Amino acid sequence: MLTMPIDKWNSISEDYFEKVLTPFSNSFSTKLFFSKFTIEETIARVLDAGCGNGYFLKELISRYPHLTKPAAIDFSDKMLENARKRIGSCVQLICSKMEYLPFAGNSFDYIFAINSLIADDRSVREWSFKELNRVLNSSGKLILLLPSLESYWEQLHVARENFISDGMDEKQAVWEVYDTINKRLFDPIGGYVNVENSALRIKLYTRWEIRKNIEAAGFSNVMIDRYQYSYEHCTKHNLICSNEGLFDWFVIAQK
Ligand SMILES: C[S@@+](CC[C@H](N)C(=O)[O-])C[C@H]1O[C@@H](n2cnc3c(N)ncnc32)[C@H](O)[C@@H]1O
Repeated sequence: MLTMPIDKWNSISEDYFEKVLTPFSNSFSTKLFFSKFTIEETIARVLDAGCGNGYFLKELISRYPHLTKPAAIDFSDKMLENARKRIGSCVQLICSKMEYLPFAGNSFDYIFAINSLIADDRSVREWSFKELNRVLNSSGKLILLLPSLESYWEQLHVARENFISDGMDEKQAVWEVYDTINKRLFDPIGGYVNVENSALRIKLYTRWEIRKNIEAAGFSNVMIDRYQYSYEHCTKHNLICSNEGLFDWFVIAQK
């Protein structure tokens, strides 16, 4: 039976923190995330696109208590239900797809899409970038976190070295890594991988690809930086990594 992406996100909404590496499951990472921007809270209208269980929104509201009521969308009704329980009515929560946003043009001063622009369908991603551009103010900012293909490569290389440290010869270690890749249906050219033990397929981006996608949707002044997760944070999620930890891409762009 073909399962739709919405059902897949619904199915991981309860054990989200175990399955997905996010800044909001660790206080150091949360602080790091919020240190990368400031919001002028008297005027700003904020959208969280793909808000999930509402962890970011909860932090946003506690750090910016005078913000005009923020808006948030997600296509997973289960995620939204959890977000509603977490943050109550101080955010306008709407069930919607990112590729068809239910807002007029130029509606927002800040748009966040935190590891949510990761559909395994290219046209969904392209339309989502265009929609985010349409609803952002001309002086507004788009702030993204996107999974990194480079970081995933690094994980695979560390896994190989770990197998060798455990006594395997190099050839055998490489085959073990290929086995992991096959189980997770890793596609190095498309840049896709399945979330551990789930049917959820997500997009991993290269730095170059992000710039290309964002500029094609009409954004400019694109700044792309590593968003580093600590070794301790990653190992709590049972992720293999070097002592530098893993990283996502942190992106800020303007219209
Ligand atoms: C990895 S979670 C991130 C959640 C949240 N931003 C966070 O950082 O905790 C991705 C979220 O994006 C939502 N999502 C994915 N594709 C979407 C789409 N095309 N339209 C709307 N929501 C989408 C999923 O339902 C999920 O809640």
